[in-house]
Amino acid sequence: MNKDFIQYQAQTTPHPLGLEVIDAKGSYVYTSDGQKHLDFVAGVSATSLGHCYPAVIEAIKEQADKYLHVMVYGEYAQAPAVEFSKLLAQNLPNPLNKVYLVNSGTEAIEGSLKLARRATRRTQILAAKNAYHGNTMGSLSLMNFEERQKPFRPLVGDVDFIEFNNEEDLNQITEKTAAVILETIQGGGGFIQPKNNYLKKVKARCEAVGALLILDEIQPGFGRTGKLFGFENYEVVPDIMAIGKGMGGGLPVGAFVASEELMDLLSDKPKMGHITTFGGNPLVAAACHATLKTILETELMAETLEKEKRFRELLIHPLIHEVRGKGLMLAAIVESEEIANKVILDCKEKGLILFWLLFEKRAVRITPPLTISMEEIEEGCGIIIDVLNKIKNKA
Ligand SMILES: Cc1ncc(COP(=O)(O)O)c(C=O)c1O
Repeated sequence: MNKDFIQYQAQTTPHPLGLEVIDAKGSYVYTSDGQKHLDFVAGVSATSLGHCYPAVIEAIKEQADKYLHVMVYGEYAQAPAVEFSKLLAQNLPNPLNKVYLVNSGTEAIEGSLKLARRATRRTQILAAKNAYHGNTMGSLSLMNFEERQKPFRPLVGDVDFIEFNNEEDLNQITEKTAAVILETIQGGGGFIQPKNNYLKKVKARCEAVGALLILDEIQPGFGRTGKLFGFENYEVVPDIMAIGKGMGGGLPVGAFVASEELMDLLSDKPKMGHITTFGGNPLVAAACHATLKTILETELMAETLEKEKRFRELLIHPLIHEVRGKGLMLAAIVESEEIANKVILDCKEKGLILFWLLFEKRAVRITPPLTISMEEIEEGCGIIIDVLNKIKNKA
């Protein structure tokens, strides 16, 4: 492994994968040892159009030739951010018509929480158990894992937890609740979809007591589940939506979206109730615009469902208990954590990039770019099945 990477760059685990990347195009990542890796992870759902999608690269280059950062968010009108926000709002249901651009998913969550408290003048936030919303203090406060929270306390106060898909817990949503925040499809928890109109029921309860519903669309967003946003599969519209990852075609970005009425609260009493230097950066916004335009103008979104079907046909094996998720947000649930680890590491050796989920340890993450071809799906699933056969034969 690259020594300077270990010596000079802060590490997130004691055992990083450490692939030394020299190039990445389409569904493949190329490394310094001359290997070509088929990418079934897409930068953890971020490079939705594959690596270096031509329209995205062109938009970045065109903008780089004009201007980069000129002013903090909101003071100047800059075409890339304006055009992206307009195109996004035009493709969202009412009342989601105003976009606040930030720099990452977790910042989108922070903005959403602040907006909910500002709008309701209440403090309680209800989050779901096993949820992941990011790693800044506010987002970390929404994670009900003692071992992850304890070293960093005190966190943001007045956060309580409900169980995802548990209707009895909905009575915890009361007149004290500012917002309920949920991932539309739980990611780190194991790619769990809402069942029995759960999200509709949450929204109805929120409406009854004057609380807001925040949906975290950071993973399902931008076409990954066959619709532009995951919530469109479940007949519900959130009051606030947090987005990120796939929206930038590979550049760092996030946003929260709400009604004009709600969003305007952040610009007054206090003025500048939420500010960011680089949010709406023109280079990033140009990439977002090209990404969204591509997703809207091609068949990629609809094709995710055919691709899901192919994955489900190919990922049949005695060691795979279940394939969870929707569209190209899939996880193969294998028999044990050990097997999941072995599959991920052995596939890496055979040129297929897979990854873990944060909390569901038996899961093998499969979130390829939306641009992945049927042949590439067959190639990658073939590697997974070969590896599983070897594991089974050795047992
Ligand atoms: C559902 C969800 N919310 C929020 C985040 C945080 O996004 P970021 O890492 O861009 O801060 C992630 C990242 O994995 C996520 O999956």
